[in-house]
Amino acid sequence: MATRKKKRAKKPRRPAFTVRKAMLKDIPILVHQRRAMWRDLGAREQRELDRADEVYAGWARSRMKSGTLVGWVAESEDKVLGGGCVWLQPVQPRPGYKLMIQPYLLSMYTEPRYRGLGVASGVVEKALDWCRSKGFHQLRLHASEMGRKVYLKHGFQRTWEMRRRIKKLREDS
Ligand SMILES: CC(C)(COP(=O)(O)OP(=O)(O)OC[C@H]1O[C@@H](n2cnc3c(N)ncnc32)[C@H](O)[C@@H]1OP(=O)(O)O)[C@@H](O)C(=O)NCCC(=O)NCCS
Repeated sequence: MATRKKKRAKKPRRPAFTVRKAMLKDIPILVHQRRAMWRDLGAREQRELDRADEVYAGWARSRMKSGTLVGWVAESEDKVLGGGCVWLQPVQPRPGYKLMIQPYLLSMYTEPRYRGLGVASGVVEKALDWCRSKGFHQLRLHASEMGRKVYLKHGFQRTWEMRRRIKKLREDS
């Protein structure tokens, strides 16, 4: 008896990709990734997303220029697969830590077609290497549900940060 084989959705072959530092001319890519990240986290208001793009572009540009935002872009040939950024965030002074800045990983995004292939991992590794090379002691982030496994795999641990809601934001975890 002839058996009919089920047609499987085509998964892209594991692409050979490189992760490079983002430059100012990559800001449109970083803005796209940020918007797409929020969209995947549930943001749906087009006008709010448009406004946020504009604000983020300016925010990122000034920080990239001053060296307080560093981005990475994962690409394969001419295709951008994903990326992420480290922001040197101002923090309060504390004993034993002279710097009043801490690195914070944000805007992690992989294009849906290339998920599960190690793209975000490649960006996390670059970000960690960069933080080590600058002498930082830790890298912080707020993990989305989708991102948790990626970060756990790279040695991130949950901390004791707490939050008391004053007002609920629509797409927030
Ligand atoms: C989260 C995200 C960046 C992960 O990107 P990615 O390139 O697919 O991640 P990787 O391929 O490096 O995955 C690393 C590990 O996490 C696992 N993983 C990735 N996404 C996962 C998911 N949605 N659910 C469960 N596990 C997941 C992978 O299986 C992999 O583990 P393995 O190597 O043991 O299989 C991507 O899903 C995304 O862009 N999501 C939408 C935006 C978002 O949530 N960004 C993170 C904000 S903190």
